[in-house]
Amino acid sequence: MDLLEQLNALPAQLKERLAQTSTEAELEAVRVDFLGRKGKLAELMAQMRNLTPEQRPAFGQAANAVKTSLIELFEARLAQQEQEREAAFIAGFDPSLPGRTLWNGSLHPITLAMEEVCSVFRNMGYEIAGGPEVETDFNCFEALNMPPEHPARDMQDTLYITDRVLLRTHTSSVQVRTMLKRKPPLAIIGPGKVYRRDSDVTHTPMFHQIEGLLVDKHVTMADLRGTLTAFVRAVFGEKTRVRFRPSFFPFTEPSVEVDMSCTQCGGQGHVNGQPCRVCKGSGWLEILGSGMVDPAVFTAVGYDPDEVTGFAFGLGVERIAMLKYGLTDLRMNFENDVRFLHQFPV
Ligand code: DAH
Repeated sequence: MDLLEQLNALPAQLKERLAQTSTEAELEAVRVDFLGRKGKLAELMAQMRNLTPEQRPAFGQAANAVKTSLIELFEARLAQQEQEREAAFIAGFDPSLPGRTLWNGSLHPITLAMEEVCSVFRNMGYEIAGGPEVETDFNCFEALNMPPEHPARDMQDTLYITDRVLLRTHTSSVQVRTMLKRKPPLAIIGPGKVYRRDSDVTHTPMFHQIEGLLVDKHVTMADLRGTLTAFVRAVFGEKTRVRFRPSFFPFTEPSVEVDMSCTQCGGQGHVNGQPCRVCKGSGWLEILGSGMVDPAVFTAVGYDPDEVTGFAFGLGVERIAMLKYGLTDLRMNFENDVRFLHQFPV
């Protein structure tokens, strides 16, 4: 076969090869084989020097025409492949399938519980107050009627930074800060993180509390009872029963612990004849600590205990979140597993 014949045979060969391609990669390999720098066409063109000078122009013209038709064939197959892919996609597309849900993110259960508690008190006229997590010994203990040798300091395993600076072990320090800055009357709520040297299945070294404080003339224990009962019922439902048990805190006198009827068994103490697991059969759940502000605390912050009285309370946010959302393991709150997190309302 002479050179011209070989040249003119190329389009038919290419057609045949193209018909066997199905992927883009195969197509590209064929293109390189025919039109590449070392491809079949280039090879024939290189042999042009073996022709007589009279033969060359005709061969050159033919080569150009063949090249054009090779490119056309290649592009036609490329377009055809694209059409085939599209057709295959449409054939496999089921418009009745549900769409992909866009995940919007949601609030952490602790954030939700914190916001709910704060909003109940905001609606009662309380203001949000805050303070740093790194606190002074004075704000965290001393002003709260816990002098250095006070045995109550042993109740809290404290993370100290220096002798007099520590990570706050409770949000009660917010009471002290606020009273040092402002004159009574005041009604504040102080949400935030607290730290203790404690870590096991039911304790994490960091957790969340909300502190409350009301100071005015003639505040009584009846105000404390009314306020905290209204709070518990706003968060856990109007049918919730509430009881006040005598207790002890250095910064309140008298002190009480507040229990509410169990969210799981409704205060029955049992579910289907079995002792309730949430309240361990007692029908009651401890929900917060509270009391009338101790006169020594007022004195420490420069208030006159003969002029004003008040009540304070402190509650654990993790506990509220767990009861509210029926969580069974405290640690879920800290694992940041999205499968857990996205079960909470946005
Ligand atoms: N600070 C206490 C704690 O961390 C909670 C508490 C109890 C706060 C009684 C108060 C209160 O304001 O009156 O366990």
